[in-house]
Amino acid sequence: MNPSRRKFLKGVGVAGAGAAIADHLWNEAEAKEEQTATAQTVSGATKITLDVNGQKRTVEVEPRTTLLNTLRNHLEPAVTGPKLVCDAGTCGACTVLLDGKPVYSCLVLAVDATNKKITTVEGLGSPEQPNAVQAAFVEHDALMCGFCTPGFVTTISAYLKKNPNPSLEEVREACKGNFCRCGTYPRVFEAALAAAKASSSSSQV
Ligand code: FES
Ligand code: FES
Repeated sequence: MNPSRRKFLKGVGVAGAGAAIADHLWNEAEAKEEQTATAQTVSGATKITLDVNGQKRTVEVEPRTTLLNTLRNHLEPAVTGPKLVCDAGTCGACTVLLDGKPVYSCLVLAVDATNKKITTVEGLGSPEQPNAVQAAFVEHDALMCGFCTPGFVTTISAYLKKNPNPSLEEVREACKGNFCRCGTYPRVFEAALAAAKASSSSSQV
């Protein structure tokens, strides 16, 4: 419903219960129009530009494509640090940072991640220059199969920026959205606390 049409009709004397009913009907009509508009805009591939680890990456994807799928399967070269495990927002293996906040990239549409800074585990450090969390994971042998590791490293790296001196309980709480089927939790938490300690002098997390 065009707002000016609504204003005009209201202005010419639709009042009381009649106005309420009319308002209700107009809201329904507006909702239908919006749905139609949305349906029209979500069909077909769209060219988008993502900011991934500080690089602008242009890619063509359908609007229903998740950020995880886009990173792993549509970018060339691919960004495969975030892992596909459940694809349903329950395991945390696909965790990336959106403007510094951990999110499950299997639950985010790529089109909704434009205009945001996307950081994957690759963007936190490199084999030559790992960040404190990556280094602590290696030092404390905090992985077995490694499938959950990028998610844990990403979550913990973001958390230590918020809370540089966490307790074990706080680390456990921060990691509650990440699951490890191999059961490496004790070493993961140990690594997180070691990274916090190592970073307290250097502030490089
Ligand atoms: S793959 Fe995204 S939460 Fe499991
Ligand atoms: S190390 Fe295998 S799932 Fe965590």
